[in-house]
Amino acid sequence: MTIIDEIPLARPVLGAAEEQAVLDVLRSGQLSLGPRVTAFEQSFAARVGAPHASAVSSGTSGLHLALRAAGVGDGDEVVTSPFSFVASANVVLYERARPVFADIDPVTHNLDPQAAAAAVTNRTRALLPVHIFGYPADLPALEALGLPIVEDACEALGAVHAEGTPVGGRGHPAAFGFYANKQLTTGEGGMVVTGSAEHKERIDSERNQGRAPDMGWLDHDRLGFNYRLSDVACAIGLAQLEHLDEMLVARARVADCYRAALAGLEAERGLALPCPDGGGDRRGWFVFVVQLPRGTDRDATIRALRELGVQSKPYLPAIHLMSFYRDRFGHRPGEFPVAEDVAERSIALPFFPALSEAQVTRVAEALERVLL
Ligand SMILES: Cc1ncc(COP(=O)(O)O)c(C=O)c1O
Repeated sequence: MTIIDEIPLARPVLGAAEEQAVLDVLRSGQLSLGPRVTAFEQSFAARVGAPHASAVSSGTSGLHLALRAAGVGDGDEVVTSPFSFVASANVVLYERARPVFADIDPVTHNLDPQAAAAAVTNRTRALLPVHIFGYPADLPALEALGLPIVEDACEALGAVHAEGTPVGGRGHPAAFGFYANKQLTTGEGGMVVTGSAEHKERIDSERNQGRAPDMGWLDHDRLGFNYRLSDVACAIGLAQLEHLDEMLVARARVADCYRAALAGLEAERGLALPCPDGGGDRRGWFVFVVQLPRGTDRDATIRALRELGVQSKPYLPAIHLMSFYRDRFGHRPGEFPVAEDVAERSIALPFFPALSEAQVTRVAEALERVLL
């Protein structure tokens, strides 16, 4: 069958401002370590209400440097969520520390503070909550555990905590990601924000092979990486920041359309939709992930949707059940029942700012056809 007009999962909003920004950098001749890096960092820090920001090559490299800044090292344990993109656990292993998973909250799908507390041992060096799918993690409850916190905010630009602080603005090192499906994209890229000048100094140095900002290039006083973000990417990021609010509003509009279009399947077939904002927390919309009714064949559903011209994908698999994590740590099904149940029923539906109401209706009708 020829598929006409397939609805993709994601599509970035890039326009004349981004094109001009890239051209300006190319014409300036300064493609890296130039003025756009600092400008992007300062605008981004102001946006999330953080004192400091460091542009980095990806969300993963940002998380890695944030963990190092928090002092995580060889033999430490880091308590984190098994329901996340695999990068949030991998970065712990980069430092020869151990990711210790704790189950998630059945409503928000974020790390459950009680489960996290139960997973703490005398080797726990930090907590690594993930603001999954842009919903703010319960940081006040996690902060009460009294351990250093590193936030995975890769999916959460635009999210706001109940007391009004944007995600990333609570002072902990927090990493954002700018991959092409994110609220703001630079193609690949990331940003670490922090309330600590000391963290900022260390992160800036370690992203650049361990060179302090005031050092000549011939000397480096610590081990570092090449985790730099180019001026081309930072220029795109600056242009994206200019219309971030519009893009966030558009994403929220698409989410509202989905909620209305899928209300019938939710009520009659037990399809689970993303939790609405609760207790004053506000989601920064990133993806629209639903959990299929129990007993549904997910692979068959995805194939059937594809035949109807709708892209979807399983999202996200539980990290502890990935073969690498099973082999390395002996994880088995049943350890984190909430995360496993959510992970095995989840699919991401097409979601991006330009998705029209008619397209949302088409997705909902396709899902209805497949599920009823
Ligand atoms: C929760 C989460 N953590 C970490 C990452 C890693 O970000 P990146 O792909 O930019 O390295 C992502 C992005 O895909 C993510 O969604």
